[in-house]
Amino acid sequence: MTIDSDDELTALKRVGTAVRETLATMRGLLQPGVTPLELDAAGRDCLRAFGARPAPELAYGFPGATCISVNDCVAHGVPDKRPLRQGDLVNIDVSAEIDGYWADSGASFSVGPPSKEIRKLCRTTRRALDRAIQAVRAGRPINAIGQAVEKEARRGGYRVIPELAGHGVGRAIHEPPTVSNTYNPKDRQLLHEGLVITIEPFLTKGSGRIYQADDGWTLKTVDGALAAQFEHSMVVTKGGPVILT
Ligand code: CO
Ligand code: CO
Repeated sequence: MTIDSDDELTALKRVGTAVRETLATMRGLLQPGVTPLELDAAGRDCLRAFGARPAPELAYGFPGATCISVNDCVAHGVPDKRPLRQGDLVNIDVSAEIDGYWADSGASFSVGPPSKEIRKLCRTTRRALDRAIQAVRAGRPINAIGQAVEKEARRGGYRVIPELAGHGVGRAIHEPPTVSNTYNPKDRQLLHEGLVITIEPFLTKGSGRIYQADDGWTLKTVDGALAAQFEHSMVVTKGGPVILT
């Protein structure tokens, strides 16, 4: 969506806060022995306390309030009963709706102290998001986002998972435009004032190829490599992005 009033910004900030606080709550519960199902239940309660409805369920009939993807699961992981173990890499993606406004955020964490490998993967992916956010300004090309992500990935020795991308958000969970994590020089679209988007780089040490698991939801790396994602929702302005989550 493109916002043109303070009321719309207020509504987006409200759902953005619900998403941010829910992700923080779930992160706080991450420890060996906890199950994704327990994390998801805590996330559901937190969203409800904010008056928010879980987007994956609402928009897609997903079997969970949040997506929890462990190790070689990249995204759309279905919360299950397998206890998390020390050293697991966990991605929590929270998206929600309040009064017809939607926001989306995600982050990857280690369960317990991170291995060197996981620390670097998460740090680099987080930095790719930060650099991409710095490229956001009304009037600038949208492909500057993918360019920034790719540059940071390459510098860290990682690949971008090209099939997964950021997106417009605001009046639905997924709206145009696609916000690619790779640089397409032929893409001439410009970011405009008030446009609401997510940026969500997915980085991996592996080939970057993914497939859908038998559950019909979970996306996994073909080669079993770890992958990390960090995501924020934001409003584009002339002065840079206003982060909602
Ligand atoms: Co998300
Ligand atoms: Co998203």
